Amino acid sequence: MAQKFKIIEHTYDVVIVGAGGAGLRAALGMAAAGLSTACITKVFPTRSHTVAAQGGMSASLGNMGTDSWQWHMYDTIKGSDWLGDQDAIEYMCREAVPAVIELEHYGVPFSRTEEGKIYQRPFGGMTTNFGEGIAQRTCAAADRTGHAILHTLYQQSLKHRAEFFIEYFAIDLIMDAGICRGVMAWDLATGEMHRFRAHTVVLATGGCGRAYFSATSAHTCTGDGNAMVLRAGLPLQDMEFVQFHPTGIYGAGVLITEGVRGEGGYLTNSEGERFMERYAPNAKDLASRDVVSRSMTIEINEGRGVGPNKDHIHLHLEHLGSEVIDERLPGISESAEIFAGVDVNKAPIPVLPTVHYNMGGIPTNYHGEVVTLKDDDPDTVVPGLMAIGEAACVSVHGANRLGSNSLLDIVVFGRAAAIRAAEIITPGASHKALLDESIDPLMSRFDRLRNASGNTSTAQIRDDMQRTMQKHAAVFRTGESMQEGVEKMNQVFASFDDIKISDRGLIWNTDLVEALELENLLLQAQTIIQGALNRTESRGGHAREDFSERDDENWMKHTLAWVDDSGKVKFDYRPVHMYTLSDECEVIPPKERVY
Ligand code: FUM
Repeated sequence: MAQKFKIIEHTYDVVIVGAGGAGLRAALGMAAAGLSTACITKVFPTRSHTVAAQGGMSASLGNMGTDSWQWHMYDTIKGSDWLGDQDAIEYMCREAVPAVIELEHYGVPFSRTEEGKIYQRPFGGMTTNFGEGIAQRTCAAADRTGHAILHTLYQQSLKHRAEFFIEYFAIDLIMDAGICRGVMAWDLATGEMHRFRAHTVVLATGGCGRAYFSATSAHTCTGDGNAMVLRAGLPLQDMEFVQFHPTGIYGAGVLITEGVRGEGGYLTNSEGERFMERYAPNAKDLASRDVVSRSMTIEINEGRGVGPNKDHIHLHLEHLGSEVIDERLPGISESAEIFAGVDVNKAPIPVLPTVHYNMGGIPTNYHGEVVTLKDDDPDTVVPGLMAIGEAACVSVHGANRLGSNSLLDIVVFGRAAAIRAAEIITPGASHKALLDESIDPLMSRFDRLRNASGNTSTAQIRDDMQRTMQKHAAVFRTGESMQEGVEKMNQVFASFDDIKISDRGLIWNTDLVEALELENLLLQAQTIIQGALNRTESRGGHAREDFSERDDENWMKHTLAWVDDSGKVKFDYRPVHMYTLSDECEVIPPKERVY
């Protein structure tokens, strides 16, 4: 099969797939360490989804009030509903401060305080003194923080001579007896196939928000790396935990940053009531996202939604004044105007909880190395494979991510992966010979799809999947509804066998790209919905009406999910890391969550 395609060969010390914030931070670190570094990306780097991150990046700099990384760690563990690995959370919160200073030195144009320090705003779940006060911890570049970080990291990667393969679609990992040896990619512009061999492949391919109908994620967020991992026979972790951001624009799904509420914005129902005061008397509108999304959904379900159909909620920032809005929130003012026709100085924005983030992903340790369960060892490293960013499940977010911990995660663990790669790879070391046949199964899958001549369009199957996921793996879940969802998803999964591809070419074949992305999404949708049905408790973003309590005795463990060719999911588990890396902090035992 490989002979059917002209294959262009490359060898590098490291190959990174994905050029969002995580991929670029890894690329620049690996290139700076003297490793020959390639970065493969399906979109131009500065169009990666990190560009859409708005509100900021958390770090306990203490520029706007006393703060400490231990408080940040406490909040992150509590926010994770005790599913987060405490060693990794310690690492992230401790490294946050040097990471943000490093970004500042790289040139990220952060907003400033009067004294010229990095501006920090309050964000949900971020507190001082172990839950007592509200922390101003989220470092912001107005409401375009991801944009600022992404552009800076791309410039730094070019400076360190990382090599970019832009508008290349990664097809599959090249595995050899459990070791990752490289990755196959398709150059969309020329139609040529490329085999990249590497001592380590780093997956930085983001989340799979597009498994749902309404998501803040770009249409490119199809979790391609996660699907490659599943096809390589490795598991994904905790995929049932999907975050709904409370404030997606009603109808469009476009993100309105939590920074709005950080700057003093608030939510109201049809009675004009600031209902978050009832659900979270202390944190109010700045409770963690799972709590706010659930509260909004209850308001709507009980008939207190706004609009003609009483099916959304109002977000107010009219009272903030144009000075604050122009300086701190210029991006969302524009989005509200374009996507909701609202002038935020005069009227509230119509909003609705919208899929925003996958807490689950490829299991890794805090060095970015992919791990799996093997011979009873839950931390077995998969040689040659790393994952970082939203693609990975480190797991620092556990069952629910705090806002602004994502930009932090991508930078800290992108850097951690670079440090680890520099430790384990000798620059220029020779590569094991690979047989041509090693890529035959990958190329056969690709070619089978290219020549698919069924009767169902990609758009139809994708729509069926997205609507099923939206309805049956929602903010609130019940066994009955999810069972129905699993049955529907099994049918949708099977319908992929009947897919019709019209374009058989290899050059800019967007028909085929969309089909490959859909195949990737279908695998992950199965892990989400079947994982959600399997987990008989409520924790973080996973809220079951039929099992409404958190069940630490039976479920304080990470789900591992493997998917077979028929879409059937097999489960096993890894323990949560209830230990820290140093004696400068303590393990936080599970307790009730009070807001
Ligand atoms: O609301 C926001 O600005 C999103 C931030 C995040 O997801 O971390």
